[in-house]
Amino acid sequence: MTFQHAHLLGIEPLAQSDISTLLDLSDQYVDLNRRDQKHADALAGLTQINMFFENSTRTQASFELAGKRLGADVMNMAMQASSIKKGETLIDTAMTLNAMHPDLLVVRHPQSGAVDLLAQKVNCAVLNAGDGRHEHPTQALLDALTIRRAKGRLHRLSIAICGDIAHSRVARSNIILLGKMENRVRLVGPPTLMPAGIAEFGVEVFEDMREGLKDVDVVMMLRLQRERMDGGFIPSEREYYHRYGLDAEKLRHAKADAIVMHPGPMNRGVEIDGEIADDINRSVIQEQVEMGVAVRMAAMDLLARNLRARPKEVMA
Ligand code: NCD
Repeated sequence: MTFQHAHLLGIEPLAQSDISTLLDLSDQYVDLNRRDQKHADALAGLTQINMFFENSTRTQASFELAGKRLGADVMNMAMQASSIKKGETLIDTAMTLNAMHPDLLVVRHPQSGAVDLLAQKVNCAVLNAGDGRHEHPTQALLDALTIRRAKGRLHRLSIAICGDIAHSRVARSNIILLGKMENRVRLVGPPTLMPAGIAEFGVEVFEDMREGLKDVDVVMMLRLQRERMDGGFIPSEREYYHRYGLDAEKLRHAKADAIVMHPGPMNRGVEIDGEIADDINRSVIQEQVEMGVAVRMAAMDLLARNLRARPKEVMA
């Protein structure tokens, strides 16, 4: 086994072989999750704590189910409602939890870099479930697994990531992963939603969506992240939909067998037409959710193997 990491903080530190190892194991967990008996014991005896400092339904549910299917004791901490409101710092909270001996800490935080900082302070495995605009590694991995299963490969594909790139950790992790696996990545959106210095990412940038979608294998839509905007990014939702909303006419510019993806939650009629989202011949949005559980099982399994292989700290 080639996966040697203590944490999963982002796609950036992963090698091509790490990504393949994660996806291969995820495929096995997809099979397990389709059986009536969905239990395995890879995390038996371990404690998993989910700390979400930002609202999340699907990602938290996905990590919770992944941990439970692998036999961990799983605890969810809704951090907005707790001591954060009482002024406790992130590090204080982490140290308090650390004293309870968790083995896996799953963290979502609105600030970029917060999860990396936390990983330096605790002695368990930390998984980044999304930090600010920085990374969302399990999302990129579940997207990669979905693409690999739909297209039969994860290299030399042409993939358009469309919409609100500037505010998106999903886009960032996907750009890094798809680049490492040697695909051609295009970014499509208005200049106001493109991050600064985008040329350094080794991607092609398109302002015109029809040009951007021309002959691509994968169309990956992003949610318009209004909660991260402070005004002035788009003229109006109607105008945005007209220029950048994925509808049947724009999709016709992609390859005839191109798949449509969205990380959810979707704004129907803003970035994507509801009928396209529900079209089982084109949309793999439900598969993405299914792959999410399997990828999180694989990530936690691999981190737990590394935890168990680590020399035990001597108990006083
Ligand atoms: C993504 C996120 O939180 O970054 N969603 C998710 O993980 N389910 C994308 C988004 O919120 O638009």
